[in-house]
Amino acid sequence: MKCVRCKGKGIIYLKRHNAAFCQDCFLYYYKNQVKKNIKRHKMFDKKDKILVVISGGKDSMALWHILASEGYNVTGMYINLGIGHYSDKSQQVVESFAQKNGLELIVKDIKKEYGLDIYKLSKLLKRSTCSICGSIKRYLFNKVAYDGGFSAVATGHNLDDEAATLLGNVLSWEEGYLARQSPVLESTHPKLVKKVKPLYTLTERENLFYVLINKIEFLHDECPHAIGARSILYKEVLNRLEEESPGTKQRFITSFLEKGRRHFQDVYEKVELKECISCGQVTTTEICSFCRFVQILKQDA
Ligand code: FES
Ligand code: ZN
Repeated sequence: MKCVRCKGKGIIYLKRHNAAFCQDCFLYYYKNQVKKNIKRHKMFDKKDKILVVISGGKDSMALWHILASEGYNVTGMYINLGIGHYSDKSQQVVESFAQKNGLELIVKDIKKEYGLDIYKLSKLLKRSTCSICGSIKRYLFNKVAYDGGFSAVATGHNLDDEAATLLGNVLSWEEGYLARQSPVLESTHPKLVKKVKPLYTLTERENLFYVLINKIEFLHDECPHAIGARSILYKEVLNRLEEESPGTKQRFITSFLEKGRRHFQDVYEKVELKECISCGQVTTTEICSFCRFVQILKQDA
């Protein structure tokens, strides 16, 4: 197995590109992919202030590291969601990385700062902890980015995540979600900050290689609530397809972005956006779900 670039000894084989790379050339390939994605989709440039969403897992740690080493103006943001040991451990990993590398980090603790408890809310509202957690995260990332004057919120979504989400949305023709699935989600309201996914063409495995080569500490555990999630099943199905036909995931995503997504644009534009009467953040209802969560728990206390 020879490296396609320098002809030295290849250590990682990427089936979908039918190419092997040595360590240095893999890093070159990885960096190039990220740079290309940022440029192709006009995500941001060096003058922009970027808020990077950090969970402590390999994908977000890889994203934070590469953007910082490429000289982008990045600030990490971590939310402690009160998921026991998982949250404590991930916060430690993220804080120690920021400290060692002199990176800026914003930490929010939903229990301490807002009195939020995803388990109580899940019981009271009969909704899954993941969907409550998702609403809280989306709200806080946007609010912090908007209040702090950031130009974009960057997340570590990788090719596997994107393909699994797309498969799930296609299986039930979730038109609204299909309209919004993109590496760049431009702002549609002055208070909504643009969302970007610079790693959307890189796989989980490639992000893992990146963090291992760069000796970046990361949390190996997944969120305990992810166990049994549909997305994991979709990933398994896609991995099986990828094995038989390398490149399936990438084709699925790129052809959707090139040919499929535009058919859902009008669905996206129809959503009416308002400002929450309590906090002023963007919502589709009178009062946003975050403010509702805070109220519900206050009433229950
Ligand atoms: Fe939100 Fe797992 S990270 S429930
Ligand atoms: Zn609100």
